[in-house]
Amino acid sequence: MKLVRAIREMREVRAPLDAPFGFVPTMGALHAGHLSLVRRARDLCPRVGASIFVNPAQFNDKRDLERYPRTLERDLEMLRGAGCEVVFAPEPSEIYPDGFSTSIDVGPVARPLEGAMRPGHFNGVAVVVTKLLNIVRPTHAVFGQKDAQQLAVIRRMVRDLDLPVEIVAGPTMREADGLAMSSRNALLTAEDRAAAPIVWQALSAVGDAYSRGERDAGLLRGLMSGVLSRERRALPEYVSVADPVTLVELEQIGPAGALVSLAVKFGAVRLIDNVVLGPR
Ligand code: PAF
Repeated sequence: MKLVRAIREMREVRAPLDAPFGFVPTMGALHAGHLSLVRRARDLCPRVGASIFVNPAQFNDKRDLERYPRTLERDLEMLRGAGCEVVFAPEPSEIYPDGFSTSIDVGPVARPLEGAMRPGHFNGVAVVVTKLLNIVRPTHAVFGQKDAQQLAVIRRMVRDLDLPVEIVAGPTMREADGLAMSSRNALLTAEDRAAAPIVWQALSAVGDAYSRGERDAGLLRGLMSGVLSRERRALPEYVSVADPVTLVELEQIGPAGALVSLAVKFGAVRLIDNVVLGPR
């Protein structure tokens, strides 16, 4: 496996590789969830690469950026084991040289939920993903379903800008107690880690109610809030039952189904999770 730090070298490495080429962009601190995205890419493409770049432009909180776990050597071992051929791990100055000033506003789908709680976050995601896609030029790029709004924003942007890549969703991987795998889980205190499965319990309660025929979105939001209120360490930022493509909040869940999502703080750590109801 080749480790590449410079844009020019990444282009040179990629140029002779035949399509289809699968790509998994990451911010490192890898876990089994990321490896499942690499496996998904390998199912679709004979050749697969990944990137490791903690993107400063998508952190609206400087402390969050500083605290973000960085485990490069371990990440490289994991990617090698998973069958990646090349890993692009640039320095911030390579991606954002002096004078860099472009921003990408993907529009309404980027505004609610994470967009409202983290101003500028999706502009930063959109810019870095566009740059990575331009540099690596994959035929397929795999993103985790756990970051459901990110996936919706990237799908919208790729369609709007006619970027020549297929966006693929990789399923959320969960710990035995239901907690969605996330690089941020490592930052939870022992007490908060023990409390965090309440997030999955809240989503499961909604899934169960939907299976029993409940379609009233307000009632389902209330159900989630009620479950979360049982855990005093859990501080919800939002609970949402929204259209899965536009992310507009629903009154009733119709044939298009719904994206049910939430963000909950445990101490200084913010966890997000979601389930998709109905047809995908
Ligand atoms: O999901 C992530 O890890 C990041 O948002 C991404 C897509 C790698 C862009 O920095």
